[in-house]
Formats: sequence, structure tokens, C-alpha cells
Amino acid sequence: MTWKVTPSGPLSGEIDVPGDKSITHRGYIFGAMARGRTVVSNPLIAEDTESTLKAVINLGVKVEREEGAVVIYGEGKESLTEPGDVLDLGNSGTSVRLLAGLLSGCSFFSTLTGDTSLRSRPMARIVEPLRMMGAAVDGRGEGSLPPLSIRGGGLKGIRYASPVASAQIKSCVLIAAISAAGQTVFTEPSLSRDHTERIMEHTGISFERDGNTLTLDGGQSPSGAEIAVPGDISSAAFFLVAAAVLKGSSLTVRGVGINPTRTGLLDLLEAMDVKIDVKEQPGSGPEPVADITVTGSGSLKGLDVPVEWIPRIIDEIPLVAVAAAAAEGRTVIRGAEELRIKESDRIATTVRMLRRAGVDASETADGFVVEGGADIRCSDHDSNGDHRIAMASVILSLMGNSSSTVVDTACVATSFPGFTNSMNSLAPGTITDLAKDQ
Ligand code: S3P
Repeated sequence: MTWKVTPSGPLSGEIDVPGDKSITHRGYIFGAMARGRTVVSNPLIAEDTESTLKAVINLGVKVEREEGAVVIYGEGKESLTEPGDVLDLGNSGTSVRLLAGLLSGCSFFSTLTGDTSLRSRPMARIVEPLRMMGAAVDGRGEGSLPPLSIRGGGLKGIRYASPVASAQIKSCVLIAAISAAGQTVFTEPSLSRDHTERIMEHTGISFERDGNTLTLDGGQSPSGAEIAVPGDISSAAFFLVAAAVLKGSSLTVRGVGINPTRTGLLDLLEAMDVKIDVKEQPGSGPEPVADITVTGSGSLKGLDVPVEWIPRIIDEIPLVAVAAAAAEGRTVIRGAEELRIKESDRIATTVRMLRRAGVDASETADGFVVEGGADIRCSDHDSNGDHRIAMASVILSLMGNSSSTVVDTACVATSFPGFTNSMNSLAPGTITDLAKDQ
């Protein structure tokens, strides 16, 4: 699909965004491992999370869809059965890495694969600890790329220090550790999103935290639970940044998850002089929720982004680049080499997006430098099959003074199928569908 994006002026009003992708994946996986009924309410219904749900169904778990919820009738992880076919996880790195942890604890054979992008994403980071735990995991490139084959079972606990602050690595190891005999001690260099730890607490898995080290005794079983999924802050981020850069905007996104390991963008926008108001709401699930209002003054200032903020803004960095383009002065991102191995090489695709719009931007090995304040020119953007680049290109185009296009936008369905409707509900006619791509 190709979108035509027509600048709309300031954005005002209130919107909701779909449920959080990370928490929905975990709700389904813990529901499959649990004994008892798990109700995942307000789940994200999008290609990535549907990939996890389909995999869970293919492992023999009974699942029912209700209005606004998915109900999982778990009978314990011992009841999972060998899938009759390869599990295809589409574009979803989280699905492959978290399910590899689950399947390593199951004494049967399974194979995990995905689309071209997923099959080029690094897996040695999870294969190494899973092999240490005793799982027979293999894949292309000596186990470094999907498809991955797993013959699981008989795991033992390990001590493992992850070289990267990655919630996918942490979650993979923790999920496997639940099935292992003995203790697992996992350390990460800085705290990555902690949704797995919260869901473990919520479903009765005990563990200890000491700084960035987690200790968990194996042989436990989660209990069925109500898992209330808040709005995804990574989806809200597109509208928050749009309101921040479009002078005269006043926009509220309702019911957004504000887990502190995910709210780096809010701190960053405040540091760039954007006015943000966060009103915490009573929540019922394992995660805090708030209504977030951004008022656009049109005067942002560039920022040397502290390296320690990177894990808390990792999925929002293309949008940081958009805010940087609108800001006075220079913005620098460093310590973000993980971006090179996301759904696209997001350092390259982000910088390309800015340059197409006439912004002075350049890549570094682990980030980029943006000189802000230039006029944004209308341009032809290409998502490169990356949902977040497609949506960030739309927000950047809103700052132009005539229409732009974005090609290859079907990927947006992996995380935010209703994005065009949400955008057009705020500013009618902003996105129109020009043509179906071949
Ligand atoms: C995710 C963790 C992050 C993030 C991804 C979702 C998760 O990846 O970029 O979109 O749900 O655990 P890494 O753990 O690889 O940093």
C-alpha cells in the first residue's frame, strides 16, 4: 500500500490507542503455561500478536475470543503438545525469542520461522543461553538465524550475564528457567522493559531482584490470571510526537501504559521543552496506566540524549529523530547499535527518512546526529518494510507544507492496524490510500 499524507495543521482532541504489544505477547505465553483460566483484556489484535496466539493454539491450548478479550484455558506447560507443522511468526522478533524460551522447556520437537526480515534477525543471543540450559537448539548459521529447530526438555538452571539490555533475551531465559531444574541467575547490563517480571509476580511465580540481577527457582507454574493490557505507549508515541511538533496542538491519549521502563520518550520530550501532562488512572492489571496530554508550542530544543535512556526509548528512536528535525539545534543519539538489528536497520532507515525530507542528518556507528530547524520538504518515503519507519514518516510529513507519500505501508498491520483511522479521526483526510503495492 502507498499512502498520501497531507499536512493537517495542529492536532486536538482525545484518542485511545490499541493494547500494548509486549504485554499482549506475554499474556498469551503465560496463559499457555498457566494452570487455569487467563483473561487477557484489551489485547493488541495485530499481525505480531496474532502470530504468538496462533502458535499457542498450535501447541494444543484452548483459546476463546470474546469482545475485548482473549481467554486462554491453560492446563499447565506439561500439557502443551508437539505442533504438527512449523510455527510461522511472521515479522515478530518478540514471538520467536519468547516462544523459543517456552519451547526449550517442552520435551518435543518444534521449528520456528518467519518472514524475510525475521529470518535475518540474530538469534545467537538466545540460542547460547538456551543451549547452556540443555536445550537442543539449532538453526541456520550454526543456530544464529531462523528457522530455529528446538528439541526441548530436561533443562537445568544457569547463571547468565547478558551482554545486551534486551527484554527479549531476559524474557526468553526467564520463561525457560521456569521449566528448568534448579536456580537461574540472570543479569543484564541495565534494566530493559520489565513486563515479564511483572507478569511473573502477577501469576504467582516467585523470584528475587537485586539491581539488574534476577534469581528464579525452576519447577514453578504460573496461575491463570486477569491480565489487563494498557494502551501501547509505543503506538501513543506517534500522536504524542505529532502534537509536540505541530504548534497549537493539544492532544490527549487515554489509557496508556506508563511502566517506567517504557516512558523514556516522555522524559525526552520534556527535556526538549515540550509540555506534557501525565494523569495516572486507576489500573486493574500488572501495569500502571495514565492519560497523557501534549501541548505543542512549536519550539523544541535539540538534545544530546543520555546513553542510559536508550533502553527506555528503544522503539521510539525514529520518532526522536522526527522531534529532532523540528527542534532548534543539534540532537545526538549514541549507544543505540541495537537499532541496526530491528525490523530494519533503523539507524540507516531513520537517517534516510530525514534526509529525504531535507533534514541535515548523518549516521554514526551506534546512532545519528540531526541538525534541526530546517523546513521539511514534501518527499517520497519508503518504510523498508518497517512499521515504525512507515508511521514515523507520516508524522514527519505532517510538518511539511504539501503532501508526501509513504510506500510499503502494509507492515503497519504488524503493530497498529488502525493507525490510519486514528490519524484521520483526529485530522480528517490526513492519510489516503493511493494504491496497493505489487
Ligand atoms: C520487546 C523488546 C525490545 C523491543 C521490542 C519488544 C519485548 O526488543 O525493541 O519491540 O517485547 O520484549 P529487545 O529486547 O531486542 O531490545
